[in-house]
Amino acid sequence: MQFFLDTANLDQIREVGELGLLDGVTTNPTLMSREGGDWRKQAALICEMVDGPVSLEVIGTSHEEMIKEAKDLVSFGTNVVVKIPMIPEGLKALRELTERGIKTNVTLVFSPTQALLAAKLGATYVSPFVGRLDGLSQSGMEGVDQMRTLFDNYAFGTKILVASVRHPLHVLEAGLIGADVITLPYSTITQLMHHPLTDQGLAKFLADWEAFQKGE
Ligand code: G3P
Repeated sequence: MQFFLDTANLDQIREVGELGLLDGVTTNPTLMSREGGDWRKQAALICEMVDGPVSLEVIGTSHEEMIKEAKDLVSFGTNVVVKIPMIPEGLKALRELTERGIKTNVTLVFSPTQALLAAKLGATYVSPFVGRLDGLSQSGMEGVDQMRTLFDNYAFGTKILVASVRHPLHVLEAGLIGADVITLPYSTITQLMHHPLTDQGLAKFLADWEAFQKGE
């Protein structure tokens, strides 16, 4: 399972990159706006720093606007993946971008049948938003499981990129289902690394060793 970082923050990208756990980055307008400043500079820096796919999202809502923006976004780097919203105009844009050989990530996917449409039109990735569905008492992961079955039944090459992740259990569930990619907020990567028994165990090992060295 590939790990992408769901952020536009350069420090977070650097830190996870140094751990060797960074396979790519996903951004969206909310994450980009959080960083402030010139988004174009930020996007270019992210593309330069990341040795893997970087999703940059369009803002337009007509397919003409999306295509125009996509052409601009791909100029930021060879690793750019154009993020397109799962709306009818987005599907029109997706079809054209697929024909042009531009990589795409269909975002704001909330049902397996939306994912099926995106896969039929050649999306590189689909992004099911699991946390937002869980927040409405609907199982986000059940949908991901159904997407996996649909894609496998018809051998679609589209990758399932689990998004809107809230906690490590989402990572476990996505892995068990066989999702191709999961995009993680920095906080979830941190949570994955820690376990109280690891910290307690290490403290005990070090204390015992220290006592032994003192001849206690
Ligand atoms: O990048 C898309 C997705 O991961 C957003 O997640 O936390 O805004 O639901 P969230």
